[in-house]
Amino acid sequence: MQVCKILSVVGARPNFMKIAPFIKAIAKHNSKLTNSPDRKEQFSGSADPYDDKLIPEDFFKIEHILVHTGQHYDVRMSGAFFKELDIPDPDINLEVGSGSHAEQVGFTMIEFEKVLREYKPDWVVVVGDVNATLACSVTARKEEMNLCHIEAGLRSGDMTMPEEINRLVTDRLSNLLLTPDLISSENLRKEGTPEENIKFVGNIMIDTLEANREKAASLALIKILEENLVNGFNLQKEVLKDDHYVAITLHRPSNVDKRQILEPLVSFLLEEVIPDFPLIWPVHPRTRKLLIDFGLWGKVIQNPNVLLLEPVSYHQMLRITMGAKIIFTDSGGLQEECCVLGVPCLTLRWNTERPITLAEHGGASVLVGNNVEQIRKAYNFTLSLSHKPTRPPLWDGHTAERCVKEILRATKRNEK
Ligand code: UD1
Repeated sequence: MQVCKILSVVGARPNFMKIAPFIKAIAKHNSKLTNSPDRKEQFSGSADPYDDKLIPEDFFKIEHILVHTGQHYDVRMSGAFFKELDIPDPDINLEVGSGSHAEQVGFTMIEFEKVLREYKPDWVVVVGDVNATLACSVTARKEEMNLCHIEAGLRSGDMTMPEEINRLVTDRLSNLLLTPDLISSENLRKEGTPEENIKFVGNIMIDTLEANREKAASLALIKILEENLVNGFNLQKEVLKDDHYVAITLHRPSNVDKRQILEPLVSFLLEEVIPDFPLIWPVHPRTRKLLIDFGLWGKVIQNPNVLLLEPVSYHQMLRITMGAKIIFTDSGGLQEECCVLGVPCLTLRWNTERPITLAEHGGASVLVGNNVEQIRKAYNFTLSLSHKPTRPPLWDGHTAERCVKEILRATKRNEK
């Protein structure tokens, strides 16, 4: 039997829910090989590896190496996710930490190059669109390695987003592009990506959602609040009865880095949303820092109807999302989760790389930008609507298995 050595990379919080099912699918693939008696015969050496009747992926045992670049390093931003999503400890941690984009990317490249030279994998697998994704893609191709991108083809068309730059570079360099939806596959075709390199596999985030939704649903909201509350107010338990709340997450530079954007947003929430609903707000470290810098932190923390939380765990966030009347967010992952859960999602952005989650495609998300006038209109309108869950094609909880299969098929093709 041949060995296929896959080295996969994570760096920041949204990567962890994408790598968890991939690693499980690898383990499942390997155990299937060793546990099936008829397959053992197939691997005895007599079978012709290029016989088309045999499935190519059955010829490879996978050796997996996990690299964490260390872009996110706090327990709450990283360690907690490894634990609850059952991700094995990384084999290597590059410990790049915080810094400017150039610092994060540059330092990751320097350290990752050493790792590639030592381990010489058959494939480097990157997920998502964070700085780790970009840095490791460039390094992998410079070292002449095969590069596979999970979640390829997403495009917002907005070059002011650091993630858009990361997506474009990563996809241009990848030689296997695994897409979450057909819009993404089409984006790649339009850019001239060779057809044989594009494989539509579905959304790997939904594998994690499906594997964890029961556990999340079993969590008591009040416990989540008690464990994570920043402002330590006496919780008004009765206001949270029957899941009567809205929730917000905010971290994009376009929303939080400028006072003239962040201040009116906060005022809208405090003056117009809180009279209707208590607001649950798990605060991203970047946002917390800017709220403090702009002198807005005091205003938020003193309001007893704002339940300001430290960054919460995956299960906790899923539970908060499941019960919310509305989610306000600039996170791409939450847009997708709201779509499958049927929770109305006001996306605080002018564009999205995930159009499949929008109401016009049957999803639960509406783009409202960061202009208060527009957010107010959408908020009032959304309150009057009923929403139901939608599931785009192949958002079925089995994407990771298809990812593994496609990588092994491509390995076999490369051999010919
Ligand atoms: C990054 C990703 C973004 C993703 C987001 C999710 C890029 C370009 N951006 O943005 O796509 O949606 O993660 O969270 O890669 N910090 C901590 N603790 C940590 C990590 C960071 O306090 O464990 C602080 C840093 O000091 C920094 C700020 O948070 O000031 C932002 O971190 P950074 O990694 O630069 O980018 P994010 O805004 O988190």
